[in-house]
Amino acid sequence: MRFSLLLYSITALALILSSCTFDQLTDIHTEDTTAPSAEKCGSCHVEQYAEWKETAHAKAYISEEFKSQSDDYQDEECLFCHIPGEVLSVERKARNYNRHEGVTCVSCHLYEQTMHGPHSSGALFSPHSIAKNSKVDSRLESSHICGACHEETYEQWDEQRKTREYPTCHGCHGATVKRPHTKGTNFFSKMLVWFEPEHTVRSHYLILPNQKETGLGPELCLDRIEGEILHFSLLNSLPHDLPTGSFAEKELFFQFKKKEDDASLHKIVMNKLLAPGERHTFTLPLPQKEQNETLQVDLFREDLSTGKIHLIRSYTFSLNSTRQ
Ligand code: HEC
Ligand code: HEC
Ligand code: HEC
Ligand code: HEC
Ligand code: HEC
Repeated sequence: MRFSLLLYSITALALILSSCTFDQLTDIHTEDTTAPSAEKCGSCHVEQYAEWKETAHAKAYISEEFKSQSDDYQDEECLFCHIPGEVLSVERKARNYNRHEGVTCVSCHLYEQTMHGPHSSGALFSPHSIAKNSKVDSRLESSHICGACHEETYEQWDEQRKTREYPTCHGCHGATVKRPHTKGTNFFSKMLVWFEPEHTVRSHYLILPNQKETGLGPELCLDRIEGEILHFSLLNSLPHDLPTGSFAEKELFFQFKKKEDDASLHKIVMNKLLAPGERHTFTLPLPQKEQNETLQVDLFREDLSTGKIHLIRSYTFSLNSTRQ
C-alpha cells in the first residue's frame, strides 16, 4: 500500500515537472510546420504505432503512385485525403507538418485540442487531454471518420446496413486485441502503464480483415461437378464492392492447388467487380484423375500499379464428397 502511494507520488511529481512538454501533444494546428511525430506518439502507444506503420495510411503521401499522379504534390485537390489535418473537423484542410506520415495519428484522433479515442481516460494520468465522448471508436457511428475519405465505399456500406446489420469499417477490418493503451519502454513510462486498465480494442492493422471473427467475407461455393468441369460461384457478402476503392487499378484472382501441395494447378483472373450481394459464376476444368484430391482455392487481390498481392481468403473443398 505504502509502496504504491510512493509510486503514485513519484509519478505525479514527474508528470508535473514534465507537463510543459506534454502540452505540445494536443496544441497542434494545420498551419503549423512542426508538431510531434507519429513516432513520438509511438513512444507510449508502442503497438498502435507499429501496426499503423505497416498500413497504406502511413504511406499515403510517400507512395510513388501518389507522388506521380498528384503531379509531384502540386494537385491541391488530392491533399486533404492523403495528408489530412483533423478529419473530425468540418474544415477539410491538409496539414503542413509531418507530411510524409500520410494519414497519421492526429488526423484521426485530434479534434479541438483534445485526443478522441474509444474510452475516456481510465489511467491515473494522461499526458494529454482525452475527450469524454468520442466518435473515434470501432463501434457506433465511427465509420463516419473513414467515410471522410473512403467516400464511395462508405456510401455502399451505409446503403447496405439499411437492410442488414453490419459491423463498422474498423469493426471488420481491425482484429480484436486486449491491451492497455500504452506500453512501458523506460522506467517512467512503465510506471504509468502499471496503473492502466486493459481494454478489448481493435488493431490499427487494417489490411487483412478479420473475417474469421465476424464470419463475413466473400463466400465461395463449389456448386457441382460435371465430368471434368467444376462449377463455382463467388458471392460478395461484404457491405461494399469486391474489390472496393475508387483509385488505382486492381484485380482479383483465384489460385487452385492440391491441399498441402505448393504447386499451383491453375490461376483464374476475375476481371469483374461485384456489387454487394452480387454472385459471379465460373468454371475450372480438372482431369478426372485429379478429382480424388482435396482442393484448396485462394482468393487474392493484386494492385496492378505496384504489383502488390494480398490474400483475401482461403477455401478448401473435398471433391469426393461433392461428387456424390
Ligand atoms: C507520454 C506518453 C504518451 C504520449 C507521448 C502520447 N500518449 Fe496518448 N495516451 C497516453 C496515456 C497514459 C493515455 C491514457 C490511457 C488510459 O486512460 O487508459 C493516452 C490516451 C490516448 C488516447 C485515448 C484512447 C482511448 O481509448 O480513448 C488516444 C487516442 C491517444 N492517447 C493518442 C495519442 C496520440 C495521437 C499521441 C501523439 C500526438 C499520443 N497519444 C501521445 C500516453 C501518451
Ligand atoms: C484522411 C483520409 C482517410 C481516412 C479518414 C481513412 N482512410 Fe483509409 N485510406 C486512405 C488513403 C489515402 C488510402 C490509400 C493510401 C495508399 O494506398 O497510398 C487508404 C487505405 C486504406 C485501406 C487499404 C489498406 C492497405 O493497407 O492496403 C484500408 C483497408 C483502409 N484505408 C481503411 C480505413 C478505415 C477502416 C478507416 C476508418 C477507421 C480509414 N481507412 C480512414 C485515406 C483515409
Ligand atoms: C463485413 C466486413 C467488412 C466491413 C463492414 C467493411 N469491410 Fe472493407 N473489406 C472487407 C473484406 C473481407 C475486404 C477484402 C476484399 C478486398 O481486398 O478487396 C475488404 C476490403 C477493403 C478495402 C480494400 C483493401 C485494400 O487492400 O486495398 C478497403 C479500402 C476497405 N475494405 C474499406 C472499408 C471501409 C472504408 C469500410 C466502411 C465504410 C469497410 N471497408 C467495411 C470487409 C469489410
Ligand atoms: C484512420 C484513422 C486512425 C489513425 C490514422 C490512427 N488511429 Fe488510433 N484509432 C482509430 C480508431 C477508429 C480507433 C478505435 C478502435 C477501437 O474501438 O478499438 C483507434 C484507437 C486508438 C487507441 C485506443 C485503442 C488502443 O489500441 O489502445 C489509441 C491509443 C490509438 N488509437 C492511438 C493511435 C496512434 C498512436 C496512432 C498513430 C501511430 C493512431 N492511433 C492512428 C483510428 C485511427
Ligand atoms: C476523398 C478523398 C480522396 C481524394 C480527394 C483523393 N484520394 Fe487518393 N485515395 C483515397 C482513398 C480512400 C484511397 C484508398 C482506397 C481507394 O482506392 O478508394 C486512395 C488511393 C489512392 C491511390 C492508390 C495508392 C497506391 O499506392 O496504389 C493513388 C495513386 C491516389 N489515391 C491518388 C490520388 C490523387 C492523384 C488524387 C488527386 C487527384 C487523390 N488521390 C485524391 C482518397 C482520396
